[in-house]
Amino acid sequence: MSRTPLLAGNWKMNMDHLQAIKLVQELGLDLEDHKFNYADADVVVLPPFTDLRSVQTVVESDKMKIAYGAQDISVHDNGAYTGEVSASMLVKLGCTYVVVGHSERREYHCESDAVVNEKTKVTLAAGMTPIVCCGEGLEIRQAGTHVDHVLKQINGAFDGISAEDALKCVVAYEPIWAIGTGEVATPDDAQEVCGAIREKLAELYGQEVADKMRVLYGGSVKSSNVKEILSRPDIDGALVGGASLKADEFSRIVRQDG
Ligand code: PGA
Repeated sequence: MSRTPLLAGNWKMNMDHLQAIKLVQELGLDLEDHKFNYADADVVVLPPFTDLRSVQTVVESDKMKIAYGAQDISVHDNGAYTGEVSASMLVKLGCTYVVVGHSERREYHCESDAVVNEKTKVTLAAGMTPIVCCGEGLEIRQAGTHVDHVLKQINGAFDGISAEDALKCVVAYEPIWAIGTGEVATPDDAQEVCGAIREKLAELYGQEVADKMRVLYGGSVKSSNVKEILSRPDIDGALVGGASLKADEFSRIVRQDG
């Protein structure tokens, strides 16, 4: 089964809009210098909301093949929701991806599986691709119940979502203990959970749908480890935090050039 790899840079709360312009330009130039073939992988950046307009301007004016999206989305269409950003606002800015249910949203903003489910639906309804995040904390990993924990999150996130819509989603497995810690899950650890996620998706939607869906790994991915992680059969790309903030390093990750 061939699935186009997806490499997505989650900038988190880093980069003002001027820095964002520079980073996207440098990334595009670096990939061009290395004659990167965009047919080999989908390249996505996920800047803070305040950068999106600038990123849109650079990508569109330079006709870059880099896609971009948001790190979160409101479940509401519009109205009195101070601080929130709606799906239609993101679509208007040319966003095609939205990170949904990142562990930092779950932890610091109390996002439950039900909220993650709602955000996934709102993203799909607007025609964007949700990157649905899941992953266990250290205690759960140490207790050995990580697979059950993640599959429960998948069940919750995909509740009431049709097979047709599931096909438009990307899943990202990000063990919390490996995020920003330098602690990477071994490729076999990552494969164990990503494989279990695909089995769960097959149970929910049938094997054919599950085989087409992309499952990413995230957690301290860098150019020196990306190739081995992506060599595992059920890992179709990476959601990259810290290492996506430097153009040359993220370019290496995209090109799998360790
Ligand atoms: P990290 O973050 O690559 O800095 O570990 C990954 C993520 O949280 O998406």
